[in-house]
Amino acid sequence: MIIQGSSMETIFPGVVRTSYGTPDTLTPIHLRQYPVSPRLSAWNCDIACPLAIEEIQFRATSRGCELQIPLCEDEELYGFGLQFYGLRQRGQKKTLRVNADALGNTDDSHAPVPFYVSTRGYGILVDTARYATFYTGSAQPLASLLRQKTDGVADATQARSAEELYASVRPSSAPLLVEIPVAAGVDIYVFWGEEMLEAVQRYNLFSGGGCVPPRWGLGMWYRARSDFDASQVKQLADDLRADAMPCDVLGFEPGWQTQVYPCSFEWSTRFPEPKTLLEDLKSEGFRVNLWTHAFTHPAAPLAESLRELSGDYGGFKGLVPDFALPRTREIIASHHRKTHVEAGVSGYKLDECDNSDYTGGWSFPELSRFPSGLDGEQMHSMLGALYQKTIDEAFETERTYGAVRSSGALASPLPFVLYSDLYDHRVFVRALLNSGFSGLLWTPEVRDARDTEDLIRRIQTTIFSAQALINAWYIALPPWKQHDTDLNNAGTWAEDWQQTTAICRDLFSLRMQLVPYLQSAFVRYRREGLPPFRALALDYPHDDLARACEDQWLVGNDLMVAPVFAGQSERTIYLPQGDWFDFWSGERLSGNQQINRAVPLETIPVFVRDGAILPLAQPTLHTDDAASRALDVRVYGDGRHSATLWNDDGSRDGLAAIDADTCGSLQLNWSATMQQEDVIVRGETFYSVASWQLFNQSRCKYLFS
Ligand code: GAL
Repeated sequence: MIIQGSSMETIFPGVVRTSYGTPDTLTPIHLRQYPVSPRLSAWNCDIACPLAIEEIQFRATSRGCELQIPLCEDEELYGFGLQFYGLRQRGQKKTLRVNADALGNTDDSHAPVPFYVSTRGYGILVDTARYATFYTGSAQPLASLLRQKTDGVADATQARSAEELYASVRPSSAPLLVEIPVAAGVDIYVFWGEEMLEAVQRYNLFSGGGCVPPRWGLGMWYRARSDFDASQVKQLADDLRADAMPCDVLGFEPGWQTQVYPCSFEWSTRFPEPKTLLEDLKSEGFRVNLWTHAFTHPAAPLAESLRELSGDYGGFKGLVPDFALPRTREIIASHHRKTHVEAGVSGYKLDECDNSDYTGGWSFPELSRFPSGLDGEQMHSMLGALYQKTIDEAFETERTYGAVRSSGALASPLPFVLYSDLYDHRVFVRALLNSGFSGLLWTPEVRDARDTEDLIRRIQTTIFSAQALINAWYIALPPWKQHDTDLNNAGTWAEDWQQTTAICRDLFSLRMQLVPYLQSAFVRYRREGLPPFRALALDYPHDDLARACEDQWLVGNDLMVAPVFAGQSERTIYLPQGDWFDFWSGERLSGNQQINRAVPLETIPVFVRDGAILPLAQPTLHTDDAASRALDVRVYGDGRHSATLWNDDGSRDGLAAIDADTCGSLQLNWSATMQQEDVIVRGETFYSVASWQLFNQSRCKYLFS
């Protein structure tokens, strides 16, 4: 029987919840860990929902239940979480299955999210932890097929070419279908606004608002080879400093996985005096990030208290803690706090929390049962997010920023960045673009490389991402000394290592210069739900070229990056409407056009929006160096977009102050009536202006508030 929503309720401006049948109670919303941002209720929405919600149909079936959601002919869809193989999601079949090794555009993913957005200006969250399947206009119900025929829409003549034949495969009038296994009903949440971007912003605020990394999290990251001991880690740190390679966070493996892999969470004998190592690294300005995973060795000190709080099947031969239970989260958070965080650890890399379908099935099976009532399928959908929240809780005063291999719905407040063992550069760029549609962050990390060119092109991409990471977990020397894995591990330095090192140093320095700009983009993520890294489609949903663009992205509001892939000596770049400035040359270019650019190896094409004020920090080796607080301010065009800088100290209180509007901030404004000497500085000097550069105009005003 087809029924319509049994209840439809406006829960916030621009957000409606509709219930169908008898919804599950073990879902992302029911297990949510962060409250809705109060800014969502304060944000008025004056327009009606562009989607006819009352036309959505629901049916309970012997397989679970299904929804039919109308689609218009010209709308394009995006989202569904971390996607590697496709950007535009119309006309697909996607099953949201957590998986570490996605093979194709099916939504097997480290972080599938049952949330999508439409260029018509709405987004839908289907509140389920099941492996739901979305047919995004690819499956045509018979009734609408027949309707097409009588309307004369279907062309009964024979196709004359393969193009004609396949053009008809995607029926434009087909609705979007969602099939949810097992469930007898479902709640959906519809978000909307003037444009698609506002729907994403409302979703992020509904999730709790975006995370704001501490400043050190926005510097450079380096992970040491997995088997390094304390002295090798220390040597690496010394070398990075001696070579003047900026680095804020050093990651390494404490060696607490046993031979059979589950963790003891106790430092291995490779680290006889972890406290001393942590103190030494701290004195050199490094934060420490430890590799870990949640599967707990049955003989580990923690296992005793987790035995009754775990699933009935193991994962990697360890206990699988039931993170849906508050008691489990408390035990694990407090263990990490007492044994590592209080000793000076700043964060973790949460590995293996996804699932294995093509790599030997090392994770727990979907048929597992957990004390909270979740089964294995639901736990796979929830584990990444719940694990992140648990580890976040280990940090009571300072904030953390880490890495994770799985995530899910409502993830924007989680201070973790997704990564993968896969390694195709173009796929990594697509993942970066896709992450911004669903409240996720992604790092296109750099490991080894085919050649120097490939290495540098990859590094150029990572420095414009949420975590600028060199993940040298299987190479001993930094990749700029040798890109080839075997030669690297044999200790053979590349002939061109000095040139490569110099180019990498400049790129790392550029990242360090961008920290204040990135920090303010993240504050907007928190306060406005605005993703700091966005595909062009989000800002230009009605521009066909922007909608299709898979290899450019926006960083904050004013920078656009066009990455280069090894082998390219020039590339076509799309400049959307408005004027843009070439970051390197300062040249002004008109938008709404495609340009061709030669792309010398040292630079990555970057464009600054007309009107931007770009505060660039002094490049230092790490963000704690006070010298980084002196800014070179660049003003582009009339500088009408003010830039705001935040005095966030990286603590929990600092975040609370950002939320409460009590965080010290510095607004850089341009005013035509001011002279260059009109520099006004009041209160603390957490930032100062060292110089300013004016592009295409001549005056700037600097104000402290
Ligand atoms: C993998 C992880 C890699 C690396 C490796 C070795 O599971 O995805 O990034 O950490 O373990 O430790």
